[in-house]
Amino acid sequence: MIIAIDGPAASGKGTLGKRVAAHYGLAHLDTGALYRAVARDALAAGGDLADAGAALAASRALDPATLGDPCLRTPALGEAASVVARDPDVRAALLAYQRDFARKRPGAVLDGRDIGTVICPDADVKLFVTASPEERARRRYKELEACGVNITEALVLADIRRRDERDSGRETAPLRQAEDAYLLDTTNLDIDAAFRAAIDLIDAAMGCAGRVV
Ligand code: CDP
Repeated sequence: MIIAIDGPAASGKGTLGKRVAAHYGLAHLDTGALYRAVARDALAAGGDLADAGAALAASRALDPATLGDPCLRTPALGEAASVVARDPDVRAALLAYQRDFARKRPGAVLDGRDIGTVICPDADVKLFVTASPEERARRRYKELEACGVNITEALVLADIRRRDERDSGRETAPLRQAEDAYLLDTTNLDIDAAFRAAIDLIDAAMGCAGRVV
């Protein structure tokens, strides 16, 4: 069973993906961490993100064991990730890892921008999770503040808008809702309500498909 969760920056896909995976006993992959880690490694190697070679070398040498690094969550690496994520060669270098992960037994939940459209077009269930930019900025700001990151909510909102624009406007694997994805707008839902709504959608979809989760 494969569940694809896509959505714009700070839409809560990661938290939802983790909880959905735990609920069904599936593995979970936050694919944003791959792009963040590529940006981290390219910068650590002294690379310039404008230089395609640095990001490509980092994507080919990526060590998945480093994906849990808490430093990946900084706004600076989110921004840098969306720059390296425009490169089709970087995306191609990360494709096999994601598809192999999705094939794990008994199944997996992957969250990102292009899971339902490119990585797992045949996923059993696809969700597109979104919320208003202002609500996403409010949530991300609270998260960053709790981690001691010194930033304003206005800056977080500007970062989110810039990244959404870059992610939606790129040529390769742009951020978009797959035609067969269910839209889940969490603007007025807290995480528990969003989780319940996601489970209801998935259970209904699996019921329709006549499968046992
Ligand atoms: O957590 P947040 O929504 O802020 O970002 P993320 O999911 O960690 O992704 C960081 C960046 O990686 C995004 O802005 C995208 O540019 C890129 N990304 C992508 O291109 N494709 C994916 N499947 C996942 C992330």
